[in-house]
Amino acid sequence: MNTDSELLIVDDMSPAAENICTVTLRSASQRRLPSWRPGAHIDLELPNWITRQYSLCGDPNDQHSYRIGVRLEELSRGGSEYIHRLLRPGTLLKVRGPRSTFPDRTPAGTVFIAGGIGITAVLAMFLRDHAQGLRPMLLYAGRSRAAMPFLDELPEDAEVVIAAKDEDQRLDFADLAARLPAGTAIAVCGPSRMVSAVEEAFPEEKFQVHAERFRAEPRAFVNTEFLTACARSGMEVTVGEHESLMGALARADRPLAAGCREGVCGSCEVRVLSGEPEHRDLIGAPPGKMYPCVSRSSSERLVLDL
Ligand code: FES
Repeated sequence: MNTDSELLIVDDMSPAAENICTVTLRSASQRRLPSWRPGAHIDLELPNWITRQYSLCGDPNDQHSYRIGVRLEELSRGGSEYIHRLLRPGTLLKVRGPRSTFPDRTPAGTVFIAGGIGITAVLAMFLRDHAQGLRPMLLYAGRSRAAMPFLDELPEDAEVVIAAKDEDQRLDFADLAARLPAGTAIAVCGPSRMVSAVEEAFPEEKFQVHAERFRAEPRAFVNTEFLTACARSGMEVTVGEHESLMGALARADRPLAAGCREGVCGSCEVRVLSGEPEHRDLIGAPPGKMYPCVSRSSSERLVLDL
């Protein structure tokens, strides 16, 4: 395990499926990257100060680049949204790892099960075992083939079952469990509901199951009403659930300069004198500042330097 952080540069970003892109990273100083075993992941520190874990899904023999796959989460205003909307080739990122919670080796005949973007966690293990003649099986489920990355990287002579929901295909775990010999290793990565179904169908007493659930991105924010005071003018305004702080200030005759109105340009920056801002921007507000076009307050009262 490597716990040091390394400065890597975004070398390439490419679409891999609907709402999924791959990001290829290289050493900013052209050095060889720390080696990794299939199943490993890295921690990526994004410029908006959010750190996220991503499985390495490239070639472990390539010592000069790491590849990750990132799905744009519908409810995210954090890591995946930043990567899809703002990250560009040439950006420097701090990376920690690689490290792994999967076993270093998987037994012959391992059954890999992936749901959606969960394929990134098992792809390299499946390809390694296939190349080594260990006869792995891959069960890969997704909303549709268009939403399932890396289908074109699966070897034609490998045992692969694809289940696309929009084609009415489903994985029958109970049927498979009845046919597999006791002791078969199962490695699964996917949404929580799928992993629970696998754990139920493949009991620990009979199978060796290694499961990884998607870690949920931060919950979607819920708007609540709060009071904002402008320290210099003495003006106070209540910010309602259905308006932005910037909108409430404009309603109270204190309009702010605005560019993007989406928390990405920084032009509406204001200083916070007291209270707890709830930062929702994508660029990382400096300490003591906030972007009122998207950010709100997690305290009942917020005092701004206005
Ligand atoms: S207007 Fe761009 S960050 Fe607020």
